[in-house]
Amino acid sequence: MQTGTEAQAPGRILLVDDEPAILRTFRYCLEDQGYQVRTATCMDQVETLLHKQVFDLCFLDLRLGDEDGLQVLAYMRQRVPWMRVVIVTAHSAIDTAVDAIQAGAADYLVKPCTPEQLRQAASKQLLLRQQSSQLLLQSHSAKHPLESHSPVLMNVLETAKQVASTDANILILGESGTGKGELAQAIHRWSKRGNKSLVTINCPSLTTELMESELFGHNRGAFTGATESTFGRVSQADGGSLFLDEIGDFPLTLQPKLLRFIQDKEFERIGDPQTRRADVRILSATNLPLDEMVRQGRFREDLLYRLNVITLTLPPLRERREDILELADNFLARFVAEYSRPAQGFSEEAREALLRHAWPGNIRELRNVVERASIICPEEWVQPNHLGFSPQAGSSQPQIGDELSLQALERAHISAVMANSKSLDQAAKTLGIDASTLYRKRKQLSL
Ligand SMILES: Nc1ncnc2c1ncn2[C@@H]1O[C@H](COP(=O)(O)OP(=O)(O)OP(=O)(O)O)[C@@H](O)[C@H]1O
Ligand SMILES: [Mg+2]
Repeated sequence: MQTGTEAQAPGRILLVDDEPAILRTFRYCLEDQGYQVRTATCMDQVETLLHKQVFDLCFLDLRLGDEDGLQVLAYMRQRVPWMRVVIVTAHSAIDTAVDAIQAGAADYLVKPCTPEQLRQAASKQLLLRQQSSQLLLQSHSAKHPLESHSPVLMNVLETAKQVASTDANILILGESGTGKGELAQAIHRWSKRGNKSLVTINCPSLTTELMESELFGHNRGAFTGATESTFGRVSQADGGSLFLDEIGDFPLTLQPKLLRFIQDKEFERIGDPQTRRADVRILSATNLPLDEMVRQGRFREDLLYRLNVITLTLPPLRERREDILELADNFLARFVAEYSRPAQGFSEEAREALLRHAWPGNIRELRNVVERASIICPEEWVQPNHLGFSPQAGSSQPQIGDELSLQALERAHISAVMANSKSLDQAAKTLGIDASTLYRKRKQLSL
């Protein structure tokens, strides 16, 4: 859950060490924190991985068998300058750590280090990495406000601007990755509440009990584990807007309390009988068919009726092809700046490929495709082979026993199960995990 900003990217971490036991320990420790982790034991593997994938952070052991860790570091600084590199070194080799810092490493850790030291180093470096990429993001998004050449979307945006200044609750519909979160933020900015907070709640990430306390707050001692009183998100959003993202996953049993709050602006904290008030404008979004869920008794009709005073439906990217190339150009400009890469634009063939593609993952997919292309393109013009479309068409699903990591297999399996399921709930059931875990994994694996 976050306020205002886009979901925080999970860190993508590369571990380089020639001792498999250390790689394993580090990997478990970092994966526990929700990071995506890949490992390499030599320069060859580093090169292959850096060619295929984007990393934010690397833990690099300077003693790599016969290879010189400083050379690996030099290669990384030149090839992927945005990646932060933390050197891992034995106490006896502290001098080389100094050389490494002078050669561009961000920090160093002395072996043996505790899991806590490793976690702290990772979170500190990832925060720094995120801050620098956020700065670039802001300078680019300021240049490219939400706009479109597609008549369908132009209509939606025009309506959105007009209703932004009213206090009407707005429901944003659209397939995954169409920009519902972006639109919610824009509506808040355009509204007269724009200088107050926009508080976001990702509905599937919380159980019913946690959701109630997260929304309305609780008193100390209200339930086991409630060691402090909390105010809740509704109070935090007082005067501003509350964005209920993925509202289709809002717990059914808690819907009456949300309904009452929307109707009367009144609520109580858990364990506190005092009735409180908050002036909050409700924005919500989903890619689930709420009408159908109402018919099936999985969503309350009276709540839907309160949420969708205005409904805005974002078209999928395939229905606004006019915008594909401009979006792609903007993403490319942003990522080549972020990653210091040479690409200047898309070749004619690449443009045609971008226009032909069906974009089932909409803008999120376009962004990911362009991010990857910006990195692997070694020259001025991005070519079709940098876009990585073709293998998708064939039956290149990984098989059990193939030479690939558990994480890659997990990603492929989850994405196949989601594609065959009617809802996230159903997919979670098939996978044998709860919906909030699936939600987390989905973001983590950029599915
Ligand atoms: N008009 C736009 N210009 C640039 N980037 C955009 C635009 N719209 C969306 N994006 C980017 O595309 C990605 C997906 O957008 P967003 O998260 O808002 O989609 P969504 O519809 O909320 O998806 P989901 O249903 O999966 O939550 C984000 O990285 C977002 O920053
Ligand atoms: Mg969203």
